[in-house]
This record gives sequence, structure tokens and C-alpha cells, in this order.
Amino acid sequence: MTSESLALRPELPSNSQLSLSSAIQLSPITPLFPSKLAIDDFNASHTDQIMALLCELKDHGSGKDMFLSWEIFQEKLAGIMDYSIKVIEENSTVLGFITYSKAMLSEDFYELHWMAVKPSCRSRGFGRKLIEEMEQHVRSNGGKAIILDTFSSSNYDAARHLYEKLGYKLFAKLENYYSKGIHQLIYKKDLDSK
Ligand SMILES: CC(C)(COP(=O)(O)OP(=O)(O)OC[C@H]1O[C@@H](n2cnc3c(N)ncnc32)[C@H](O)[C@@H]1OP(=O)(O)O)[C@@H](O)C(=O)NCCC(=O)NCCS
Repeated sequence: MTSESLALRPELPSNSQLSLSSAIQLSPITPLFPSKLAIDDFNASHTDQIMALLCELKDHGSGKDMFLSWEIFQEKLAGIMDYSIKVIEENSTVLGFITYSKAMLSEDFYELHWMAVKPSCRSRGFGRKLIEEMEQHVRSNGGKAIILDTFSSSNYDAARHLYEKLGYKLFAKLENYYSKGIHQLIYKKDLDSK
């Protein structure tokens, strides 16, 4: 090797100089648009996005469940019913929602009415975040338990998986309630006093 080619070689650090700390000093890549996730109370400004989300889900269940869900939003906006509705948003785009209220005639049981996450955003933990937000709110209002009902059919597999994972226990099954072979499953979770 000539002295000229040696002069052109960059000065490389020896193995002992290549330490973990020098690797850590590299600047992290900063995303141009950092994702901003938030859970908010539903209000009129969310209506169009909620309607679009419900339209995406129209083939999910019987179709009637989506209609009932839309009624909950309407009644909330009109101030007819005291529903609690939380929406999860990423950079102001609504990705999902949860609706619940104190169960009618009950002193301290609450009822989860409906929840959904945009199909393209599932399995990222948004459903879990929504349920945990509801539970925290219910606890802070003195609620002692949450009940919910759902379908036994396979298009609700993810929902049942999530409920069971978060501690909801199946306590009743109404056979053939929705249609032949599709049962209503009723779940309950007792809330601790945390
Ligand atoms: C139920 C629902 C809200 C969950 O939302 P999500 O954001 O995907 O929820 P998460 O990411 O927190 O958790 C989903 C869990 O279901 C699992 N899952 C996804 N598809 C599944 C399937 N076909 N069968 C079983 N589990 C499934 C995921 O792996 C994840 O579990 P893990 O954390 O143990 O891996 C969403 O699937 C949905 O909108 N479904 C349609 C509407 C609906 O069924 N609503 C409930 C009405 S009772």
C-alpha cells in the first residue's frame, strides 16, 4: 500500500473505542409528525367521524346493533339520556369509541353498551385503553361493577377475548337469543376500590 492510499483512508476507531456508549450517543430518528393519542369525551364535532366509523362497521353484526349505537350518540347530543361516551383519537382522527352509563334502576352497577375500533386500527391496544378509561371513570363515580352483553358468534371473538382478558366473567347465557345458534352472553366485572 502506498503512502498516498494510506493518507486517504479514514481514521477508524479501534475495537476498544467502539463502545455501547458511543452507539447510544447517535441521535434518535425523530418522526416528522409524532403521533398524538388522546381519549376525549364525545361532542358534536366528532359526529361525522363517528358516523363514518359506524358505516365501516355496518356489516359487522346484524346491522341493528349499529343503528342502536347511533341512537346512543343522538340521544347524548340531544341531552335525552345521560350516556358517557369516550372517543380515542390519534392526531384528531377518531379511531374508536366506548359508550356506557349507570344501569337503569341500579344504584352502583354500570353497563357497557357498545364499543368499536376502526378495522384498520385494531389489535393496537385501543380497545383496552377505552375499557380502562371507562373503568377508571366508573370507579371515580362510585360504581361497583360493570355488566355488558355480547354475541356468541365468531365476529365477536375479538371482543370476547378482550373482555375476558380484562377480567370480565361470563355469568349468563341466553341460548338462541339473537337467532338460532347465536346466544347472548352476559359478562360482569366487579371493580375493586383502587
Ligand atoms: C372489540 C374491539 C373494540 C377491540 O378493539 P382493539 O383495538 O382491536 O382491541 P385491543 O387491541 O385492545 O385488543 C384486541 C385483542 O383481541 C385479539 N383478537 C383480535 N382478533 C381476534 C380474533 N379474531 N379472535 C380472538 N382474539 C382476537 C387481539 O390479539 C387482542 O388481544 P391480545 O392483546 O391478547 O393480543 C374491535 O375488535 C371491534 O371494534 N370489533 C367490532 C365491534 C365489536 O365487536 N364491538 C364489541 C361489541 S360487544
